[in-house]
Amino acid sequence: MQLRKIVIAIDGYSACGKSTTAKEVARILGYRYIDSGAMYRAVTLYFLDHHIALTNPKEVARALPMINLSFKVNAKGGTDTFLNGLSVEQEIREMRVSDQVSQVSAIKEVREAMVAQQRKLGKEKGIVMDGRDIGTVVFPQAELKVFMLADMMVRAYRRQQELLAKDVLVNLNEVLENIRKRDEIDTSRTESPLRKAEDAIVIDTTHITVNEQVDEVIRLAITHMVKQA
Ligand code: DC
Repeated sequence: MQLRKIVIAIDGYSACGKSTTAKEVARILGYRYIDSGAMYRAVTLYFLDHHIALTNPKEVARALPMINLSFKVNAKGGTDTFLNGLSVEQEIREMRVSDQVSQVSAIKEVREAMVAQQRKLGKEKGIVMDGRDIGTVVFPQAELKVFMLADMMVRAYRRQQELLAKDVLVNLNEVLENIRKRDEIDTSRTESPLRKAEDAIVIDTTHITVNEQVDEVIRLAITHMVKQA
């Protein structure tokens, strides 16, 4: 039996485990993984490094064509984000980027440019993409849509541990504040705000492990594929 490839959209709040889950699901299914948040982060890094005024739409529109984003699978099997040919995987996770990324991703011109690239990447199917608007805007026809959420304190603690593993020391309150602010901007912006697609399946990760999250998405994906076969 040949299982047809599908598109899996994973949306949800910041630091709920979307990327960790999406990466592992892609590895198991042999799919391509795209971290759409990394794209917004790379644009933010470019804007910061080039002192682009976020409140000036003309300046933003002029800068966007200068940004070339690409992804490469690294030695560990993960995906690294490249900005104009240079790996920025580490830099885009820094707090200075996290602090600005929600503002940048609320800009209409930025979203239009990113969504166009994301749709191109998903043309061939066999893709797992995580973000905020994947099931609602980027791939409204995705065969499987997952919406992840978790308790805010648990999310902050997990993100702090993740940064610690990369030798980045951040105060828990600072992480908590960043997550709270990003949730607020991501859900209230005019341009494709974060919301659950009507047909998305909710996974609350507060009390479950990464393995359980992954198993649940794989189970849902396989159920869908078998039904379609
Ligand atoms: O997934 P992340 O936390 O790395 O995403 C960083 C920011 O990018 C997030 O605060 C909101 C924005 N984002 C978005 O607006 N749309 C997406 N599809 C992905 C991320």
